[in-house]
Amino acid sequence: MIWTSPRPTTTKLHPKTTSSWRLSPVFAVASPTTSSLCQQVTHSMPPEKLEIFKSLESWVNENVLPLRKPVEKCWQPIQFLPDPSQGTEEFAKEVQDLRQRVLELPDEYFVMLVGNMLTEDALPTYLTVINTLDGVRDETGSSLCPWAIWSRAWAAEENRHGDLLRTYLYLSGRVDMLKVEKTLQYLIGAGMDIETENNPYLGFVYASFQERATSSSHGNMARLAKVGGDPVLANICGIIAADEKRHENAYTRIIEKLLEVDPDATMLAIADMMKKKIIMPMHLMYDGQDPNIFEHFSTVIERQGVYTTYHYAEILEFFITRWKLEKLEGLIDEARRAQDFVCRLPSKIRKLASIKKLESRPVKFSWIFDK
Ligand SMILES: [Fe+2]
Ligand SMILES: [Fe+2]
Repeated sequence: MIWTSPRPTTTKLHPKTTSSWRLSPVFAVASPTTSSLCQQVTHSMPPEKLEIFKSLESWVNENVLPLRKPVEKCWQPIQFLPDPSQGTEEFAKEVQDLRQRVLELPDEYFVMLVGNMLTEDALPTYLTVINTLDGVRDETGSSLCPWAIWSRAWAAEENRHGDLLRTYLYLSGRVDMLKVEKTLQYLIGAGMDIETENNPYLGFVYASFQERATSSSHGNMARLAKVGGDPVLANICGIIAADEKRHENAYTRIIEKLLEVDPDATMLAIADMMKKKIIMPMHLMYDGQDPNIFEHFSTVIERQGVYTTYHYAEILEFFITRWKLEKLEGLIDEARRAQDFVCRLPSKIRKLASIKKLESRPVKFSWIFDK
């Protein structure tokens, strides 16, 4: 795999042992080295397990596909944006109102909003990764397999998030769109390395966690926008957070079902992803200037309380309860050890978070005109 940006670091990617939990920016690790990307594990799910996913197709039809929202009932970005079809003057006034509303929001808010927008807009990468997963991938691009129907509908819903945030940012005049667009191109070109190994057990654990994390982050951005004087932006972040919640529900149900039909493998998958840590999907981003932009961004969202190590611990705790992990019985020894590791992890993460020192030095972001 060719990997050109950001510049490779010498930091080792993902500690593999349970005892080496390393404190780093919010669910972030340093960008992977070229050699670590070359060591990627593939197709770790035994082929005989494909049958499980085949046998769950009717269950997906009945329990996951209803979580799609019909297109006619979905909101669309234009409903929250100045409408150019209503005449030049009215349109100009709505743009002016928008620019007025965002005046009181600090630059750091826009750093975070750009980060959230980039996370949404790197959607091509996520659909690519979902379609690497054995047993659930879209084999044709229009497959009628329920797993594939869900993935396409999910992507179509997600696509509105980036569109809306990007247009809002563009109209706000507060960010350097050229730098933002460049970062997006770098990001999609780099992809992401979340170590899901073509394995749907790992992939769905990642998706459950990530959907809840984005819902939490958009929700916190909504709260800050409201306090900062822009109720429309608060509403936008809120409706995106609500979509993420529904998506979280879908992926969470899938893991719940897998725990029922294959508890050992599913418990091991949850522990495996937690050992690797759930990395932000934009961990390979680069803006053409700052080789540590991801770490700098992670520090800002942690400092502003939009996404912190404590949130990470809370999300894990939520899933431990939601999936009743502490109550799982009859597991094989290895899965029991995994269960023990996962159930003890939140308090370990909290302890580490309490001694963590955040970088307080302000960092300049190209996205905000090097301010
Ligand atoms: Fe989204
Ligand atoms: Fe989502």
